Amino acid sequence: MEKMKIIINPQFHLREVTLEDAEELFLLTEDNREHLRAFLPWVDATQNVGDTRAFIASTSCDSVYSGKFALALIWEQKIVGMIDFHNGDHKNKSLEIGYWLSKSYNGKGLMTLACKSLIDYAFRETDANRIIVRCAVNNPKSQAIPNRLGLIQEGIEREANWINGLFVNLYRNSVLRSEWKF
Ligand SMILES: CC(C)(COP(=O)(O)OP(=O)(O)OC[C@H]1O[C@@H](n2cnc3c(N)ncnc32)[C@H](O)[C@@H]1OP(=O)(O)O)[C@@H](O)C(=O)NCCC(=O)NCCS
Repeated sequence: MEKMKIIINPQFHLREVTLEDAEELFLLTEDNREHLRAFLPWVDATQNVGDTRAFIASTSCDSVYSGKFALALIWEQKIVGMIDFHNGDHKNKSLEIGYWLSKSYNGKGLMTLACKSLIDYAFRETDANRIIVRCAVNNPKSQAIPNRLGLIQEGIEREANWINGLFVNLYRNSVLRSEWKF
């Protein structure tokens, strides 16, 4: 079957991850441990390439509601980060987006563009009606992405994540199909 791919421009696309990506993705995780672990609970649990392989094997692009619809951000042929749909709720046509970007590629607008393209895809190609982005209140760089894309901040989920021994409050942002500007 053809791999899921969203082309953004000649230098940049999103692509389904496969087991062949395991080594590259694990090395990127290794290089970014300190940058990622403050916000992403899976980082400390990823200790070797086998853990990355197990993660890839658990993903699926068969449906946006599949659980872990995970795409790599490919910038000039290299993996520079990941974006996904998770917590898919088909009954209520709702999806949540998660993302991370290698530190060296921060500050260029790549994740904002990836996020916009993934939301475009969901509203064009699927029956999703509501897309959520949740960001820790102490993660302004992440919260800037839904802000830039015009998502509505619904409120704060109190102590919604347990990360590195601490409870963290999360902003919950969302956009509805009826509001999205392609
Ligand atoms: C959160 C994270 C993805 C943000 O990365 P980022 O590079 O700031 O986000 P973008 O790629 O959208 O780039 C935006 C930055 O590029 C700048 N930029 C340059 N050109 C731009 C353009 N054309 N469009 C938008 N922004 C642009 C913006 O001004 C902004 O920089 P600033 O923060 O100095 O103002 C990244 O820091 C990360 O992975 N952090 C760790 C993991 C994490 O927190 N994940 C999210 C959990 S909810």
